[in-house]
Amino acid sequence: MCGIVGIIGKSEVAPFLLDGLKRLEYRGYDSAGIATVTAKGIDRRRAEGKIVNLEAAVEKRPIHGATGIGHTRWATHGVPNETNAHPHSDGTVALVHNGIIENFQELRRQLTAQGHVFESETDTEVVVHLISAGISAGKTPKQATQDALQRLKGAFALAILFTGHDGLIIGARKGSPLAIGYGEGEMFLGSDALALAPLTRRISYLEDGDFVVLAAEGAQIFNLLGQPVERDIHITQLSGAMIGKGAYRHFMLKEIYEQATVIGDTLNSHFNPVERTLTLPPMPFDLSAVERVTLVACGTSYYAAMVGKYWIERFARVPVDLDIASEFRYRGSPVEKGGLSVFISQSGETADTLAALRFCRDAEMHTVAIVNAPESTMAREADAVLPTLAGPEIGVASTKAFTTQLIVLACLAIVLGKEKGALDRDGEAALSKALTEIPAYATEVLKSDDHIRSIAQTMLDVADVFYLGRGTAYPIALEGALKLKEISYIHAEGFAAGEMKHGPIAMIDETVPVVVVAPPDELFEKTASNVEEVIARGGRVVFIGDADGVAQFKGKAFATITMPTVKTFAAPILYAIPVQLLAYHIAALKGTDVDQPRNLAKSVTVE
Ligand code: G6P
Repeated sequence: MCGIVGIIGKSEVAPFLLDGLKRLEYRGYDSAGIATVTAKGIDRRRAEGKIVNLEAAVEKRPIHGATGIGHTRWATHGVPNETNAHPHSDGTVALVHNGIIENFQELRRQLTAQGHVFESETDTEVVVHLISAGISAGKTPKQATQDALQRLKGAFALAILFTGHDGLIIGARKGSPLAIGYGEGEMFLGSDALALAPLTRRISYLEDGDFVVLAAEGAQIFNLLGQPVERDIHITQLSGAMIGKGAYRHFMLKEIYEQATVIGDTLNSHFNPVERTLTLPPMPFDLSAVERVTLVACGTSYYAAMVGKYWIERFARVPVDLDIASEFRYRGSPVEKGGLSVFISQSGETADTLAALRFCRDAEMHTVAIVNAPESTMAREADAVLPTLAGPEIGVASTKAFTTQLIVLACLAIVLGKEKGALDRDGEAALSKALTEIPAYATEVLKSDDHIRSIAQTMLDVADVFYLGRGTAYPIALEGALKLKEISYIHAEGFAAGEMKHGPIAMIDETVPVVVVAPPDELFEKTASNVEEVIARGGRVVFIGDADGVAQFKGKAFATITMPTVKTFAAPILYAIPVQLLAYHIAALKGTDVDQPRNLAKSVTVE
């Protein structure tokens, strides 16, 4: 992961570098650093932990210069301390890196044998020494960088400073994103356009294998062979305003509450209320000819995909392959030319999902990206984009992106059902109606917040929590467990309710809360039997269901959360909200860093 920023400015760049890094902090917060180059040479400040620590270091010892680079780190190689913090420098060259240099051990051995001395445990430092060796041999910064890039295996976005070259930054991209920002007599580099949004709206994106020589007057872009190439400049629509928490204690809570609105926004972009019909943006292929769908994603987005599989198979009667991106890309799956592959990602940058998209594109499948970041690499590279209109999601644990992904997948299932002739007009109207009711129901569900907080209060000292669900409630159980793990650090597992008896039930005793996601559907009675099995073994059940379901477990369950009675189709979207709130309150009451939990990052651009 990691976020990088580079600025050739007209005045002191340190404050702008720090501001850019704050916008990139979602990419990692293990350490941060900046470096500048002036006539006096390279200077740098680094600090372990979040950017506030770096700010304090810069305040204590200001750093001067109008050309600089910055980095916020998600540690891959080497513990997150100051020595391993970027920028790395040997005095001749300073650079920041996002990605992983896979052949760093071999390069480090060779460079050490040549007398280079390494100070960090990182993979990145080899790039410093490779480029520096070229400079010592008399090469220009451009030539030294180009030659070094040829020797790197893995993924990287780099921004590089050179002693004696105030006003020069070289950037390079392979696998990890890098954007160029064009100012008036100023130039910028950033991991994304968001980092640069307050500085400029004129953005171009490097393509894989590109490197760029940046000077105050402009950018010269080259491919790996050193041939000049042109990349389009466009005007980004991203806002430069910092997103605030409003009156909320955490971004995550704010984002949970925003769901009623953003679910409505996302649905309205596809729904015609007069005709009660759903449409999707035009696709450059024939949806009615789709015989098989492949859904690929990671993390929370994968659980959205799981719900999507149930829906597409049920309403469009089209078989769905479902895969975690990191498995799919290496599985050698026999994908079908002309088949439909759908990639679900909040960030649109997740390395494994992006690689899966490219794999399918190369196999001549049709590719659709369901993304929340409209200018992301996936959005740019897919044949068609189905945006989620969740707005910027800042909390690392995904909430509103998830429920809006579900809305888009629901629309896709319905439209595909129509195109395939599996869903008639009445069927479409009934399903669309169920979707349009969700925003109002979501507002109602949020009223349980205080009650859920009081349940959370009883779960602060537990070691394990199980989540159970059937059908589309099963992915919600998995998502509930993931949310809890991510932000409270309590061990949690989600299970298909029917699988409990095949092993997990051995773990049940009075110390293990079991959260049951049980909407009133045709599977309810079966789930209810599984709940009885848990209660019979002393399990502490937290039952989430409608009034009838709750009545069935009154006096037997440890706690209940009453949901509005909704159509089965809409249930997973609404039942996501109480499991999000439960995880949130447990974590907030425990006092963990809810928005930036340890060891995680929001956008994972390494394998
Ligand atoms: C990271 C985030 C998760 C997210 C996953 C996939 O692990 O912490 O919240 O679900 O990446 O991210 P994507 O941007 O592809 O949805």
